[in-house]
Amino acid sequence: MKVVESPATLRQEISTLPGKRVLVPTMGALHEGHLQLIRLARQTAGPHGSVIVSIFVNPIQFDRPSDVAAYPRPMDSDLAACENEGVDLVFAPQASSMYHPDRSITVSESLLSSGLCGATRPGHFDGVCTVVLKLFLLTGCHAAVFGEKDFQQLAVIRRMVRDLDVPVEIIPHPTVREPDGLAMSSRNSRLSPEQRADAPRIQQALKNAASLKNPADILASARNHIQTSPLTRIDYIELIDAETLQPTTTLSRPTILATAVFYNDVRLIDHITL
Ligand code: PAF
Repeated sequence: MKVVESPATLRQEISTLPGKRVLVPTMGALHEGHLQLIRLARQTAGPHGSVIVSIFVNPIQFDRPSDVAAYPRPMDSDLAACENEGVDLVFAPQASSMYHPDRSITVSESLLSSGLCGATRPGHFDGVCTVVLKLFLLTGCHAAVFGEKDFQQLAVIRRMVRDLDVPVEIIPHPTVREPDGLAMSSRNSRLSPEQRADAPRIQQALKNAASLKNPADILASARNHIQTSPLTRIDYIELIDAETLQPTTTLSRPTILATAVFYNDVRLIDHITL
């Protein structure tokens, strides 16, 4: 397995990688959810193709500097996990080699990213689109795998690829959960034992609410269930149209119930499709 830090070296190394190149973009702190993305990438690349994993805590997609600083960076164990999964190349750049100090171009999506995480984390999806497009260009990947847990991110990236004619196939992977239902996330490792024990309530709240018929009851039920815990602070909880991601008050079209919940400064997201 090759580990490359500089974009210039990446360009050279890429030309030696055989077959279909499939990228798994990550911010590291790899868990079982990421490993499943890597396995899907391997399956997609086929026996003669190549799997690339990028590990980069992208500073321009964070709205709070404390969140970037606190983001876990266990590089040695991440590299061991990639090696173990048969990854061909890991790209792990420094922020200084990804962004010029006077950079002035940003990729911005204006519709799907307007609500939910886009509303409560201004600039987040601009940062995601910009880094993902750069990673696509740097790796020259033919396909890339993204988790459905970040469904808004997935929708925004699909829209970017569609609108900018980016020749990369976007492959979704279902949300991977802990046995108690908590969606896997690198942020889970920052929960205290008490918070970790409480956090499965997010998925339980969404599941219970999803069995109701009335949109207002659904929202109220999920909100109450989450707020019953003194450890939680709801960032948002919304019913949205699954295609446009705009708020909805009916269930006449496929609908998503989505939430972001803080445990102190650790922000967890989850959703359920109704
Ligand atoms: O989902 C993530 O881990 C990040 O948003 C991504 C896609 C790697 C871009 O930094």
